[in-house]
Amino acid sequence: MAVPLFLDPKLEQPLTSLLTSPRFLHDLVDGLGSPLNVVLPDRIVENVSRFRSVYRRHRLEGEICFAHKANRSSALVRRLAATEAAMDVASLGELQHALASGFTPERIGATGPKEPEFLWLAARTGVTVNIEGHAELESLATLVRHHGLPRVRVLLRLSDFSGTGVKFLSRRSRFGSPASELTGLLDACGQHHDAVEVIGVSYHLDTTSLEEKALALEGCVRAMDECRARGMRPRVIDIGGGFGVSYLADGAQWERYTSQLTSAAMGRREALAWRSHSYGLSSEGGTLRGSLELYPSHRSLAGADYLDELLRTPAPTLGRPLATLLLENLYDLCVEPGRALLDQCGLTLARVLETRRESDGTHAVSLAMNSDDCALEEHGILLDPIVLHRDKPWEAAEDTAEPFGVHLHGNLCLESDLITRRTVFLRRLPARGDLLAFPNTAGYCMDFSAQHAQRRPLARKVAAYRDADGWQWRLDDQYWPIHSAGDAHEV
Ligand SMILES: Cc1ncc(COP(=O)(O)O)c(C=O)c1O
Repeated sequence: MAVPLFLDPKLEQPLTSLLTSPRFLHDLVDGLGSPLNVVLPDRIVENVSRFRSVYRRHRLEGEICFAHKANRSSALVRRLAATEAAMDVASLGELQHALASGFTPERIGATGPKEPEFLWLAARTGVTVNIEGHAELESLATLVRHHGLPRVRVLLRLSDFSGTGVKFLSRRSRFGSPASELTGLLDACGQHHDAVEVIGVSYHLDTTSLEEKALALEGCVRAMDECRARGMRPRVIDIGGGFGVSYLADGAQWERYTSQLTSAAMGRREALAWRSHSYGLSSEGGTLRGSLELYPSHRSLAGADYLDELLRTPAPTLGRPLATLLLENLYDLCVEPGRALLDQCGLTLARVLETRRESDGTHAVSLAMNSDDCALEEHGILLDPIVLHRDKPWEAAEDTAEPFGVHLHGNLCLESDLITRRTVFLRRLPARGDLLAFPNTAGYCMDFSAQHAQRRPLARKVAAYRDADGWQWRLDDQYWPIHSAGDAHEV
């Protein structure tokens, strides 16, 4: 067996404490079935406060909006309703959910492609609408006039920023309007002055690049100048989400893993994944081709720290730190983190059905869960699950460890149904009846892709929280903030 390449997950409280309660987790899966998703509503409050301290450090004001799309949970949204956080909703269902969970319209922003029903409810209730382009602006203005709705506060979403003397561009996006088309968009807003009020501009870039985001943010400051030159009084710059999560405890493990993956793609070592999958890399006549199709599972800068660094970054052409530009103009900064606010907010549990030794010395572990139930592979996130015996705390299991290479197979009748194609190294071989815990799945991996394949039910979800008697739980839709032990429900 090759030298094991561990990818130990980063674990913080209260996730760590939950994992040291295997009996509690086994009882939950006994009662509610496998797979089971557990969310930790109190942790999302902590994540909001980490973002807020960055605002304070830079003396900035503005909303921290949770991008609901990253998790369908009611418990998390209701818990946030009890804080100062706001919501970013991207569908009619998410908007209805936010309203029903206790968010008032002035704490909600609507983003993404919008059907007329979604636009109508947003306009009717007074939610801020992020305008994706000319066509949406026209639809909204027509709807407002036709139904006699109140004037709607809008942000103009921009993309495709460029700067003179700057060697890079910001990413193209199919959402928003190219920054170069702002003038035409503002002309149209002028014509629809009775139906919409422009309160600012926005972007969302799906990139880890600080340079691109700095260019986009500076582009937004320039766009605000153009609005002001027309006599508008814009006050908000919304920089979307994409602050990211670092999933792994140890950057060196990630470096080692990715360099070994390159060696495997070049044929210099045995494969590191099922059927020699190499995550986008290949070798052509001894030259490495392709690029790594993986999320950077270890990030030295993520979440609120990423925002902090962005705000410290000098504007690419104006030179002053971006936070200074915002402060000088008294602009509110709005952020829409999805994944980053869900960091450490939950886990996915799966029962082991069978463990079988293969002819190559690895083991096939079959789970009562499939790859859509826990979409780590779909999102390119690599991390090791934790084996939970019913009566043994997992740290004790780690101490007596001897590594085993395993492949984690799902419960669909498909050869390709693997929770991850990577050969996972476990310090203890799981046996039938054990649980595998996949930590930190709340952001996109828990329910974004879940389906009813083979008429299997969707995983149940529970909200877990601690009080003086230890861990307690409720079904996700039965949880309200009154159930958390924390005395302060405000951040
Ligand atoms: C407009 C908008 N805001 C926020 C987000 C959340 O991004 P993340 O979960 O990476 O923070 C997305 C993700 O697609 C988005 O499209």
